[in-house]
Amino acid sequence: MPSNTAAWIKAPKERFQVEEAPYTSPGAKEIIVKTAAVAINPLEYKIQDYNPPVGGNEIKYPTILGSDLAGTVVELGSAVSKWKVGDRVMAHTFGAVIGKPAQAAFQEHVVLADWLPTPVPDDIALDKAVVLPLACDTATAGLFLQLGLDVSGLGNGRSAGEVLLLWGGSSSVGCVAIQMARAAGYEVFATASPRNHEFCRSLGATQVYDYGKSDVEAEILTALKGKKVVGALDCIADNEKTVPALGRILTEVEGKKKIVAVLQPGEIDGVEVQRVSIPDLFRSEHYDQVHAWLASALKDGVLRCKPDPIIIGKGLESIQEGIDTLRKGVSAAKVVVKLE
Ligand SMILES: NC(=O)c1ccc[n+]([C@@H]2O[C@H](COP(=O)([O-])OP(=O)(O)OC[C@H]3O[C@@H](n4cnc5c(N)ncnc54)[C@H](OP(=O)(O)O)[C@@H]3O)[C@@H](O)[C@H]2O)c1
Repeated sequence: MPSNTAAWIKAPKERFQVEEAPYTSPGAKEIIVKTAAVAINPLEYKIQDYNPPVGGNEIKYPTILGSDLAGTVVELGSAVSKWKVGDRVMAHTFGAVIGKPAQAAFQEHVVLADWLPTPVPDDIALDKAVVLPLACDTATAGLFLQLGLDVSGLGNGRSAGEVLLLWGGSSSVGCVAIQMARAAGYEVFATASPRNHEFCRSLGATQVYDYGKSDVEAEILTALKGKKVVGALDCIADNEKTVPALGRILTEVEGKKKIVAVLQPGEIDGVEVQRVSIPDLFRSEHYDQVHAWLASALKDGVLRCKPDPIIIGKGLESIQEGIDTLRKGVSAAKVVVKLE
């Protein structure tokens, strides 16, 4: 049996400790992936800082965190036909949230359901691909499942003739959402700091607005005259600022009056608000449809691995430093730790 090592968090709010972990053999429809790179997400420093319930579940300690990995398949369950040993994959993992630490990213060998990963083309480095998985699932749930963007539009070159409003275009989720919405034929009106406007346009945003300007809402409203909106994806979900701003814009324009936000949004009169729901995505047919598109879009260069990684050290020992770096805040970047 191979050995395994993990970055453990042994009790609420403790720092990570790198120690041996059990090597779990795959079930019939599972694979084992040897992790080459992990990305750090805000969820991980939130868990370390104040131990919130996640997806309605209390985290059980000791546990292993980690939501994004890229690596190589090293073992297959007896009923797996989709993968072979040596395949390069990326995946959004959530082991700690479901009480299965063997399925979390911050370890050497990770157990994954065979339907979960996406193949990574040979010409894309694993430490670049790893910026994508959680952001892709979040954007997919928000855009296609909850706002109802037409998934069949993905990659068919058709224009949907509608605009997606997107707050936080340079965030991890925003970078993927811009690319997906454009690939599905929607115009995207995004917000970001001025330093990231050109970057958001390079990903496909039609218009980009400076959220720091006092008249940003008026600017967006003027630009939306005569256009139909398909709703708003709020990748920041600040209930004092971003959610009410989107609510005020949506009440004034033609189209769907709905906000899907990455965190629980507050209520807004006349506008439907929802938190993005990844568990619902896993149960929906959209998961396979969008993941099939992701694989081909990555291969064809249609989907770019953005934002760029900031590589923090090498090895599981660097995970705490990665989390400390993200906690201070990043701009159009994803914190990544290489494991090999
Ligand atoms: N519910 C879920 O399943 C789920 C999944 C993923 C993420 N999330 C949550 O979503 C949030 C963002 O995560 P992330 O990883 O995407 O963030 P991130 O990439 O670390 O966010 C940094 C970016 O946010 C932008 N930003 C900050 N304040 C902004 C504002 N007021 N308006 C517009 N842009 C703003 C910054 O843009 P500029 O530098 O251009 O100013 C920066 O590029 C976190 O709270 C996370 O926990 C939830």
